[in-house]
Amino acid sequence: MGKYTDLQVIIKGRRTVKPSLMNGAIIEESIIDGLLELAHWAPTHGRTEPWRFIVYTGEALTTFAREHADLYREHTDPEKFTPAKYQGIIDNATHCSHVILVYMKRQEPARIPLVEEIAATAAAVQNILLGAEALDLSVLWSTGGMTFHPAFKAYLGLGEEDQVMGLLYVGRSSEPKPVAKRNSEWFDKVVKKY
Ligand SMILES: Cc1cc2nc3c(=O)[nH]c(=O)nc-3n(C[C@H](O)[C@H](O)[C@H](O)COP(=O)(O)O)c2cc1C
Repeated sequence: MGKYTDLQVIIKGRRTVKPSLMNGAIIEESIIDGLLELAHWAPTHGRTEPWRFIVYTGEALTTFAREHADLYREHTDPEKFTPAKYQGIIDNATHCSHVILVYMKRQEPARIPLVEEIAATAAAVQNILLGAEALDLSVLWSTGGMTFHPAFKAYLGLGEEDQVMGLLYVGRSSEPKPVAKRNSEWFDKVVKKY
């Protein structure tokens, strides 16, 4: 296959896989490092390279999931708190191999518009997702739980201007890949002017 065809297969074949469909198998550290290296080759305006990753696995992942769930409980109105969501945060971590927490590190002093730094970090995430697809790994990019809560940033020791982009639950799955769904056609979002 040509490079373009290979890439098409990877891009179109990539699917979000929820941790509940992962089988708990542990992925070799060198493979995770390879994905993080791919992330590093995302485009970056002004070469600020704003993507940052905190990688959790093993006991550290168990502790992180528990602390994440505890933060959810501490910072949620009792009327809105649900034990199912609390347990879900913990359970997700038991099915996957690694969680890669992604955040955007704001340059100091900031010279590049915020949207560009978020865009660059999102591009770094996509590199990880595509690399994972090429390796038959499963990933969920999650912005659930406490992702956007200020208490999460404080827990992680991030700066005021930094932005948590989500948690990547990475694992292996023995289940069939979820069916691809799009609500419209690609050309519905395109205006061509000649
Ligand atoms: C920024 C971002 C955040 C997301 N957060 C969640 C999430 O919290 N929970 C979830 O189930 N899926 C999440 N997703 C995955 C989407 O649900 C998924 O991409 C969408 O259903 C399309 O499926 P596909 O990725 O298989 O093409 C997120 C995707 C993006 C880009």
